[in-house]
Amino acid sequence: MLEKIYETADYLRNRAEVIPNIAIILGTGLGELVHEIEDKKEISYEDIPNFPLSTVEGHSGKLIFGKLGGKDVIAMQGRFHYYEGYSMQEVTFPIRVFQALGIQYLFVSNAAGGMNNSFEIGDIMLIEDHINTFPEHPLRGKNYKELGVRFPDMSNAYDKDLRRMAAEIAKENNIKLQYGVYVGTQGPTFETPAEYNWFRVIGGDAVGMSTVPEVIVANHAKMKVLAFSIITDLGVIGKIVEVTHEDVQEAAQVAQPKMALIMKEIIKRIS
Ligand code: HPA
Repeated sequence: MLEKIYETADYLRNRAEVIPNIAIILGTGLGELVHEIEDKKEISYEDIPNFPLSTVEGHSGKLIFGKLGGKDVIAMQGRFHYYEGYSMQEVTFPIRVFQALGIQYLFVSNAAGGMNNSFEIGDIMLIEDHINTFPEHPLRGKNYKELGVRFPDMSNAYDKDLRRMAAEIAKENNIKLQYGVYVGTQGPTFETPAEYNWFRVIGGDAVGMSTVPEVIVANHAKMKVLAFSIITDLGVIGKIVEVTHEDVQEAAQVAQPKMALIMKEIIKRIS
């Protein structure tokens, strides 16, 4: 595993002119954020040794090196979901490569169903914490001390300082921001009404099929994480309607520019 990570990191080091310390994962419907990236250099996942290939409609797989908010970044356009059949090691492999490249900040976006009664479709939720309901843990198995400790702390999984900055930026720009707990679930079904209710009862505000594995590994790697959910549908009793992947993509598109602005500003402000 270590060899594969280092081989991929070496390949990217040779292909990229500069190695940033910020990485961004662009979730469902948020791929257009890449248009904000300047001086782009794109590398298809299929050209990157050891990288899995992404399969879902609406996720084209490439790694993009460039500048956002005046800083060098790497963006993942397309991520690997557990429901596609990848192992947790495959889902989180890019995060390990980022770690080997010296990435210190990980910004994540996703689409999620909102369970909090005060949420509306199109809202952006700043993830304050998560609940992991995936059936497999990305750190299960041998722990490589080169990668992190056996029992990682998760008390600040979504970095407090970054969250504070995001809240300030949203306020300055009159962007309504919601706050809450993201429940990570395996999918690929959306939830039944009883499941939405269950996730609400256990303390969730939004639910989605990604993010938690990557954030766990990023914390193991001691990265500072900031993550946003775009609320694309509602899992609130009385407001639940049929939901499709297309609805999710459409709703995410609408909120996209606001999230792009927050991310850009925050990147400007971190050193
Ligand atoms: N549930 C799970 N994942 C999702 C949802 C949802 O309602 N919306 C977007 N991704």
